[in-house]
Amino acid sequence: MKRILLIVSGGIAAYKALELVRLAAKAGYGVTAVLTEAGKQFVTPLSLQALTGAKVYQDLFSLTDESEMGHIELSRAADLVVVAPATANILAKMAGGLSNDLASTLLLATDKRVLVAPAMNVRMWEHAATQANIALLQNRGVLVVQPDEGPMACGEYGPGRLAEPPVILAAIEAALNDGPLKGKHAIVTSGPTHEPIDPVRYLANRSSGKQGHAIAAALAAQGARVTLISGPVNLPDPFGLTLVKVETAREMFEAVQAALPADIAVCAAAVADWHVEQATQKLKKDGSGKPPALNLSENPDILATISKPGPQRPRLVVGFAAETEKLEEHATAKRARKNCDWVVANNVGGTGIMGGDENEVLLITAKGTESWARMGKAALAQKLSTKIGEFFE
Ligand code: C5P
Repeated sequence: MKRILLIVSGGIAAYKALELVRLAAKAGYGVTAVLTEAGKQFVTPLSLQALTGAKVYQDLFSLTDESEMGHIELSRAADLVVVAPATANILAKMAGGLSNDLASTLLLATDKRVLVAPAMNVRMWEHAATQANIALLQNRGVLVVQPDEGPMACGEYGPGRLAEPPVILAAIEAALNDGPLKGKHAIVTSGPTHEPIDPVRYLANRSSGKQGHAIAAALAAQGARVTLISGPVNLPDPFGLTLVKVETAREMFEAVQAALPADIAVCAAAVADWHVEQATQKLKKDGSGKPPALNLSENPDILATISKPGPQRPRLVVGFAAETEKLEEHATAKRARKNCDWVVANNVGGTGIMGGDENEVLLITAKGTESWARMGKAALAQKLSTKIGEFFE
């Protein structure tokens, strides 16, 4: 029997944890529950104990609990740790590595995968701090069941409602069975490339790597073996995947070739089109007032190369199109020109998307164009990887 350690943190949605326990038990999982101080205000230990059929843990410094099962052991005895509902507070504690109660200590001490189902007021969910914490946790391999949108107990409307228990159970099942992409290899490119001009200068672009890194983490969460090939970024190294760090487009190209074969390739990197004939010494002003000439040569096109028909071609190749005008038209043309299967097209013209935390895209496939509402990059990564999972069903 697979075992779940369920941490119930505070919030009006905590009552739904009882339904989750009931569904999980019905599906054959063993559930051990941990209740935080705030959680106790919304559900009683007795109701959780009745539904799990097991002791409910609440205190970090309980002599009886420690003599039966120490908190370190408790954090490792399960196959999966689930936090539902996960408040903004517990997410912040996880992101910051705090351990000042039993729940946060277990989350820091565990060696198992962690799945969180956030629930909170819409403003708290949309706050930059919460979104940054979610992105950080996803990069570390934490699985996130996105909250639903709708009317809230506090009277406001928007995203922040706990996902319905059957949806959380489906995510648990995917995590425990290693997800729909189990056995598949995915290559993801991410970030900008740096093309040196001389020993101290380079050509670059505004790509942050946030979208590509989030996609790599989301594919790994679906069970894929992921090779993330990243240009220079200012992001934490994601958890649970192979990370290859490169600087130039030519290095990225070589790394992608070396990582083949793969079932999936997602080319999210903003690869420089050109590299510069590099000066061996720092370029100097020579007093003539004439700028030095930069000798540019074309970089290899990683996406177009990987998409060429042949035995090494991944079954699903996804390209990105960052455009500033005529989005659908240019992206559709790009899909044909590069011979990739899907194109994720985003308008990067002055909307704060490149380098920002949100994205608004069109997904262009052989079947046509889907327009996705503006959402966080992590949510978009999850939506895209779910679609990739469905493609391989
Ligand atoms: O040609 P353009 O840069 O507009 O196309 C964008 C798509 O092509 C992205 O998916 C990007 O990762 C990929 N690309 C690439 N190698 C290049 C240039 C772009 O893989 N040299």
